[in-house]
Amino acid sequence: MGAIKFFIQGIKNFKEVGTFSRSSHFVGKTITKDKHIDFSTAKCIVELGAGDGPITKQILNKMAPDAILLCFEINEKFSEDLRRQFGKDKRIQIINDDAQKMGHYIREAGFKEADAVVSAIPFVIIPEDDIIEESHRCLKKGGKYVQLHYSLVAKKRYERIFNNIEIDFVMLNVPPAFIHICEKL
Ligand SMILES: C[S@@+](CC[C@H](N)C(=O)[O-])C[C@H]1O[C@@H](n2cnc3c(N)ncnc32)[C@H](O)[C@@H]1O
Repeated sequence: MGAIKFFIQGIKNFKEVGTFSRSSHFVGKTITKDKHIDFSTAKCIVELGAGDGPITKQILNKMAPDAILLCFEINEKFSEDLRRQFGKDKRIQIINDDAQKMGHYIREAGFKEADAVVSAIPFVIIPEDDIIEESHRCLKKGGKYVQLHYSLVAKKRYERIFNNIEIDFVMLNVPPAFIHICEKL
């Protein structure tokens, strides 16, 4: 999707999108560092709020050939764009539905739990913790939850749910990004 179309979706649906521009290549690279997600063992990866796919692309680049990516995007226009870009890759399921329902889709895909959850849902403007708590429930023990934010104001919410957190900073993004990484203990 072009930058202007993304900008329009940001204006029309600000409460869901939470930004006016997609993440940079550097955000995707940082989120998918091996120290954050173990791609050598991950078989079921879940992405929440994929937008038009800058992080999706990096996840697919690093995923094993027999792994699957359940990719949630609530916005129909973004979902269409994701299908156009990645629909031919057999490893991805593009799900135009609420990320809250991830448990159902993980089970439907034949898994008990997820190895990693990557999220860019703008929880700074979504005050409820339901999706973060559901991510914690759906993750395997030792699995990572990796969340994109543009500040540290929501950090305590992840600390409360996961009891641990690490921050990685990405300067080369507009605005600069704080990647929150939590492990399910
Ligand atoms: C900040 S944008 C991130 C887009 C993209 N991942 C990126 O980094 O450029 C957040 C995305 O989350 C999606 N979203 C918000 N709430 C959602 C929900 N409950 N379930 C699935 N997607 C959601 C929005 O439609 C939007 O595309």
